[in-house]
Amino acid sequence: MKLLDSKNVIITGGSRGIGKGIAEVFAKHGANVAFTYNSSSSSAQELEDHLKTFGVQAKAYQSDASDFDQAQKLAEDILKDFGSIDVLINNAGITKDNLLMRMSAEDFDQVIKVNLNSVFNLTKAVLRPMLKQRHGSIINISSVVGIKGNAGQANYSASKAGIIGFSKSVALELGSRNIRSNVVAPGFIETEMTEKLDEKTVEGWRQAIPLKRGGQPEDIANACVFLASDMSSYITGQTLSVDGGMLT
Ligand SMILES: NC(=O)c1ccc[n+]([C@@H]2O[C@H](COP(=O)([O-])OP(=O)(O)OC[C@H]3O[C@@H](n4cnc5c(N)ncnc54)[C@H](OP(=O)(O)O)[C@@H]3O)[C@@H](O)[C@H]2O)c1
Repeated sequence: MKLLDSKNVIITGGSRGIGKGIAEVFAKHGANVAFTYNSSSSSAQELEDHLKTFGVQAKAYQSDASDFDQAQKLAEDILKDFGSIDVLINNAGITKDNLLMRMSAEDFDQVIKVNLNSVFNLTKAVLRPMLKQRHGSIINISSVVGIKGNAGQANYSASKAGIIGFSKSVALELGSRNIRSNVVAPGFIETEMTEKLDEKTVEGWRQAIPLKRGGQPEDIANACVFLASDMSSYITGQTLSVDGGMLT
């Protein structure tokens, strides 16, 4: 018996990076995986095929998580295809970094819309089925900068802090229905999102981390496995930093 046997999971932004890592680790633990992407259709198709090799049900859906109606339609389609939704992982996210002096209103709004409105949209979309079945685990991917703040990331940090407040409120509202809501706050995880950064800066960050390395998508995925599984059935409203000790 695997930890996530027969659990049906939605992961937003599964086509690459952390979301892809979560999809792979979840499939290895026996979960059926529905994942979304925004534009990377060929890598999404490749991942769908790869996940099926673990003997689980898997399907990629093109769906813009920042669009309320698309999120509702997505949940309906997944319910038809998979039968139920046990776990939601809100992972889709973008950055549009700039110092506040130079940050445009459009770049502020866009980051809030993709990173924070998406969490509202998807949580609303899975609410009814989870209430009906009287169980569910919602895992929201925030960031250490949502806890600490970061120069040049006022928009991103605000969206990630918003996720923590949202998630705690959902935990309080839905605990009596056995729906849990938790946050994972990654530190520096080496993905395409961080590949754009200068190598010298990155090496400096690695050395400043107590565990002396950047994290890998699997590090985040393993924390999500725990929060999705019945091993965490008495844990809700929490924020788990997965950051090599960065915030310590
Ligand atoms: N990497 C880090 O160090 C780090 C640290 C802390 C937190 N995080 C958070 O972890 C999450 C994943 O980060 P990552 O590094 O894996 O990013 P990434 O490599 O840039 O991947 C982002 C994923 O989100 C999808 N996406 C973007 N906009 C979307 C939208 N509107 N609707 C649906 N999907 C959308 C992308 O799909 P397409 O491929 O189709 O564009 C892609 O699958 C984000 O929420 C990020 O803020 C990352």
